[in-house]
Amino acid sequence: MLITAIRFIGFPGVSWVMLRHLDDIRGGYGARVPRIAAHAATVPASGIRRVTELAWATPGAIVLSVGEPDLPTAPHILAAAQAALTRDDTRYTPNGGIPELRDALAAELDPVHTLPVRRDNVWVTAGGAQALHLALSLTVGAGDEVLVPDPGYPPFSMAAHLLQATPRPYPLRAERGFLPDPADVAAVISDRTRLLVLNSPSNPLGTTLPDALVAELMELARTHDLWVLSDECYAAFAAGPHVPPAAHDADGRVLTLHTFSKDHAMTGMRVGALVVPDQLAPLMPTVQESIVSCVNTPAQYAALAAITGPQDDVDAARATYAAHRELATAVLAERGIPYLEAPGGIYLWADLSHATDGDVASFAEELVLSRGVAVAPGSAFGARGEGWVRVSLTATAPDLREGLGRLPARG
Ligand SMILES: Cc1ncc(COP(=O)(O)O)c(C=O)c1O
Repeated sequence: MLITAIRFIGFPGVSWVMLRHLDDIRGGYGARVPRIAAHAATVPASGIRRVTELAWATPGAIVLSVGEPDLPTAPHILAAAQAALTRDDTRYTPNGGIPELRDALAAELDPVHTLPVRRDNVWVTAGGAQALHLALSLTVGAGDEVLVPDPGYPPFSMAAHLLQATPRPYPLRAERGFLPDPADVAAVISDRTRLLVLNSPSNPLGTTLPDALVAELMELARTHDLWVLSDECYAAFAAGPHVPPAAHDADGRVLTLHTFSKDHAMTGMRVGALVVPDQLAPLMPTVQESIVSCVNTPAQYAALAAITGPQDDVDAARATYAAHRELATAVLAERGIPYLEAPGGIYLWADLSHATDGDVASFAEELVLSRGVAVAPGSAFGARGEGWVRVSLTATAPDLREGLGRLPARG
């Protein structure tokens, strides 16, 4: 049986055959296959991924479901990575990252955070994704509760599950423009709550938290003695001033996530950072060592060039996504499709409830097959996303025009 399974390796598209054989093996020799960790099996599958993979497998389908910048990485960033490779700078770096990169990030953030940001507060990570896992590893344990926005970026909940913690969604209501109401957040807090996750500008909504609301949420965190994780992945694309919660942090409870992925079109380089308060700094070497040791060295030099070099690429990305937003909203308006007026981030949040029959996830899959366009179903971001879809403005202008033109018109 094993030989049969191995014979199929290398033939794309037949991995299900292997899985079937593995099931047979498990059935036949149950005790030989260890049990999967129960909490790993509770991690919810990504509804965005399902629709996107279906679109990739559907000839001619237009993909508007992923936040992958369709812009080139700036030449000076590529050159820095290439130079590191050429001089064979390919060994481990310190766990926290190359000192120049940590210092550059600290210099940028120190003036906008209340508490000092020094090299020891900045930890270079493998993208925002690892910064998220690192932040949760430091602040929550088994049985603890994490407050996550609903709708919100699915890995906030996924990472909590992986640490045997429980995500507790706090509602972002359409009637409040999908901004959090501190009273709604307070209503979900229990004596197990340890961490409040904020994300401004928001994925998937494009909302940017105003200063007064950030101050109120920080006050709430202080009252209930919570850690705060601020995901600032899209800070470069804020609508109006970007207000870091760390600008309202008097006592060192905020961890801040950054990534080079979106503003510098470096998704595959995998460089981000977690900025931590002083009291966590002593733990960092051990925790980071156990997760990743350090980040890919040439990629760190690329990130250093990104932060210290010209910022024209970020300006160009901002202008491109603003133009895409204008184009996309015009197409939606022509089709009578309502959308959220929230011009931050790189996504557009549209209301397709007239066509989804109460099940936007099935609707989105059907849309790929029947009309050849993939949008991310709102329910993938939480129960409050039912009836809505997320459109990624990183797609090309022709794809946006054609793809959104395939959405069912309203009325
Ligand atoms: C809100 C948010 N946080 C974190 C990440 C992860 O960033 P990275 O791709 O750098 O791992 C993303 C990526 O889409 C995101 O949207």
